[in-house]
Amino acid sequence: MTDHKKVALLYAQDHQKQTLDKMKELIAIPSISTDPERKDDIQKAAEWLKKELSDLGMTKVEIFPTPRHPIVYAENLNAGKEAPTVLIYGHYDVQPEDPIDEWKSDPFTPTEVGEFLYARGSTDMKGQIIATFSAVEAILQTGELPVNIKFLIEGEEEIGGSYLEVFIKENKDLLACDFFLNPDTGMLGPDLPSITYALRGISYFELRIMGPKQDLHSGTYGGVIHNPAQVMTDLLSGLHDDQGRVTMKGFYDKVLPLEQEERDELSRLPLGDDHYIDQAGVSKLWGEEGYTSVERTGARPTLEINGLYSGFIDEGQKTVLPAYAMAKVSTRLVPDQDPDEIYELFKTYLAENAPDTVTWQLDKLAADHPSMSDRKSPWITAYIKAAETVWGKRPLFVRIGGSVPVVVHIQQILGVDAVNIGFGIPGGNLHGPNENVHLPTLYKGIEALVHFFFNLKQ
Ligand code: BES
Ligand code: MN
Repeated sequence: MTDHKKVALLYAQDHQKQTLDKMKELIAIPSISTDPERKDDIQKAAEWLKKELSDLGMTKVEIFPTPRHPIVYAENLNAGKEAPTVLIYGHYDVQPEDPIDEWKSDPFTPTEVGEFLYARGSTDMKGQIIATFSAVEAILQTGELPVNIKFLIEGEEEIGGSYLEVFIKENKDLLACDFFLNPDTGMLGPDLPSITYALRGISYFELRIMGPKQDLHSGTYGGVIHNPAQVMTDLLSGLHDDQGRVTMKGFYDKVLPLEQEERDELSRLPLGDDHYIDQAGVSKLWGEEGYTSVERTGARPTLEINGLYSGFIDEGQKTVLPAYAMAKVSTRLVPDQDPDEIYELFKTYLAENAPDTVTWQLDKLAADHPSMSDRKSPWITAYIKAAETVWGKRPLFVRIGGSVPVVVHIQQILGVDAVNIGFGIPGGNLHGPNENVHLPTLYKGIEALVHFFFNLKQ
């Protein structure tokens, strides 16, 4: 081990308390990207990052405004032209905190319980942003960077359809790099380092069914007016057949079949049915026949109803025949499905199945392609080695069901591949109440990053 690497690792270990304090500062800013009332907090988070990046030794730091939420860029290219350049990604936005009543502590007051820190954004992904900062800081405070580093941190990941794609297209030179480090995925367990080689794409819709011109008395009009809530539930229930397959015509046409070799490999991951039953707290699983749970969630496309609204939902009762019904519906996509084509298929489904007693409208809220990464790139090899050093184990290769839209944009626009990693573990409750991060795993992650950056130099 080089002396510099050794002292950088010691520095990182000695500064875990400072890392934790930084995390708490960033997490306390409620930067919820979908909420227009949080615009000031979004700005505050971007400025907080800018200051941190300057303090830790980035030589150029800039906030780029966009029509929506600002992008933070930073670089330190002192390693020189011979050394590789890594573009480190992050998103400083978070999901809304609801359902607020189910939180055991305030979502934006980071709270330590044993080895865990609870707060919205702790694992997705402010903790991981700080992990990358702490690794870079540890190296810079004890010597020179072995690689050139650029940071690209956006504020629109959690809402899809972000402006980042345009920004990447317009700033190809600024963002030029040898590879993309995306620390927005996770690990399968505290002692199971993991590398994500596939992320699903997403098509997200808002569907409205419009009936009478206003809410009606359900006794006076029930029986002659087709209730929009009933039409909505009929349409939604028709989207799956009794084998758990999506019924939209053509939905599976472009899905690449799973090779037996990959199926064998996926079956060896510690993600059996029990894992999903335990994590979700259900008694039985559901899904597409003919595929295992790990295949269904990572390698097969799915469709979910994310939210439903119609009529009266407050306490008590109200005899109303609602004027409209609304549903949020999303599909997760795998290669080679195209999110825009899925929108057309959904429209065809509605045109063929919606009755003429109502009108409907389908809005597209997000459309992002799935991505796959080369598992044999030199960058992946460098991370495997780093993870082996820290955890004493070869990382697992996983496909995850979630989406990180930027990965495919980077692949297509900059022509470089991604290393998708992360230090969150199952039980982190991302997007749900009581989100948390396992601190010892995050600290190990910082050490893995330090090893990784030094490994890249050779
Ligand atoms: N960090 C997640 C992706 C993820 C999910 C990683 C599960 C590891 C395990 C990411 O921030 C995310 O949630 N993305 C959204 C994107 C969407 C709104 C376009 C998602 O997947 O829902
Ligand atoms: Mn995330």
